[in-house]
Amino acid sequence: MDLGIEIKEQGKNYSINYENASGWRRSLSRLIEDNVVFSPKDARELLKKEGDVFIYEVYNLWKTIPKVKEMSEKTGINCDVTVLNYGIISTSDSGELFFTYGHKHERGYAEVYTLLAGEAFLISYEEERQRMTAIHMEEGDEVLISPTSIHRLYCGRKGAVVAGLVPREAGHDYNAVKGRGMPYGVFLSDGKYDYQKNHKFKDVELDLSEASSGRTLEIFFETPEEVKRLLGMKSL
Ligand SMILES: [Fe+2]
Repeated sequence: MDLGIEIKEQGKNYSINYENASGWRRSLSRLIEDNVVFSPKDARELLKKEGDVFIYEVYNLWKTIPKVKEMSEKTGINCDVTVLNYGIISTSDSGELFFTYGHKHERGYAEVYTLLAGEAFLISYEEERQRMTAIHMEEGDEVLISPTSIHRLYCGRKGAVVAGLVPREAGHDYNAVKGRGMPYGVFLSDGKYDYQKNHKFKDVELDLSEASSGRTLEIFFETPEEVKRLLGMKSL
């Protein structure tokens, strides 16, 4: 899928390049301040050792890339790309993997994430049902995120470049995560993935699910009405 961006691989991480890039970034200190990390102690030790490590960046392709902007204006669907670095929030080689803050949509719309490069986990928490789902994603995989879930990305053994399609009016509620994080964190412990239970949450069940390869990004440019329906938007 040619979104008009160039993805560069640098070791375990990725960067993206395009004309008039527009975005914002989050670093470790903010995740500590807002109390969304699994172990504040490990996070503060990392901060002390490595400084305010850059965790992820979000680029709003729909603002400046002509073909994306045109389709976004036509449909009301935003296309953002998240570049999540690889890393562990710890000074040892075991700990919580780097993640995005996480949010819930303010208005009930779904979202589609497509992994353009690297490796990631999408975790989504349905608070009413007290269930959390973790999905491992490889290049080309996509996941449909439910309108009611609180969702977050974790990196895998590499960083990740993820494209998201979401209605502009969906809105981001970060307070759903602030001060508590998510019910489970994705860890790398002795080279193996591991899900650790966050004791701020009680009795949340964890389901592991599979991603599927999909072509929603292509469909967005071909027959956008289909994507509008998928995301729960009313047709024109
Ligand atoms: Fe979202």
